[in-house]
Amino acid sequence: MTGIHHMLVHFPLGFWALATLMILVGSFFKGRLADISREALLPILVLSLLAAAITVASGFLVWPLEAALASPLTRNHILTALWSLGIFTMLTVLVWRAGSGAFEGARRWVLVLLALTGMSIFATTGTIGGHLVGATTQFSELLKLLGWDVYNTFYTPTWVIGALVLIGLICAVAGRISQRSAR
Ligand code: HEM
Repeated sequence: MTGIHHMLVHFPLGFWALATLMILVGSFFKGRLADISREALLPILVLSLLAAAITVASGFLVWPLEAALASPLTRNHILTALWSLGIFTMLTVLVWRAGSGAFEGARRWVLVLLALTGMSIFATTGTIGGHLVGATTQFSELLKLLGWDVYNTFYTPTWVIGALVLIGLICAVAGRISQRSAR
């Protein structure tokens, strides 16, 4: 059964990497390739979410939750997998709602910022997956230099979570206000 997860992981990772590349090409280049990247982004993002949902489900179905949550490495793997899914869900909703205007003006920077953040988090998910099967990479050494050893459960102080929620609320209110003044 474990082979199913090993096989499925390639799909969300591949689609997320492709979507990130398309966002960068669509944001910073002109011409046919950039046009195709902008137009085909939404279907690729939707496929990435489908692939990720199936992969996450396979993880939870293959390994008992008690066993998975007992290991800091697997806890971190699940955490970063769900964060990646969250970021790419946000990107999908933004691109879907904004339609052809998703890359207009300063909006493209929101896509670029989210895509680059998502890329570092899904790279971490894959790296930790590698650690779980005994194939370590230099990427975790980089994370260690930044202050996080992947063998220790990732910890976020409560005040940081509070600050993040506050920033989210401020962004939502600012968005609402600018939407009303644009009408
Ligand atoms: C989008 C979600 C996920 C991605 C992209 C992902 C990615 C990976 C990768 C790349 C590997 C290494 C596989 C290999 O080298 O062949 C792996 C292994 C593993 N993953 Fe995930 N994973 C995801 C979600 C989950 C979830 C939700 C669980 C829940 C328990 C999980 C549990 C594991 C375990 C236990 C291993 C080690 C497998 C073994 O020892 O044979 N993964 N994952």
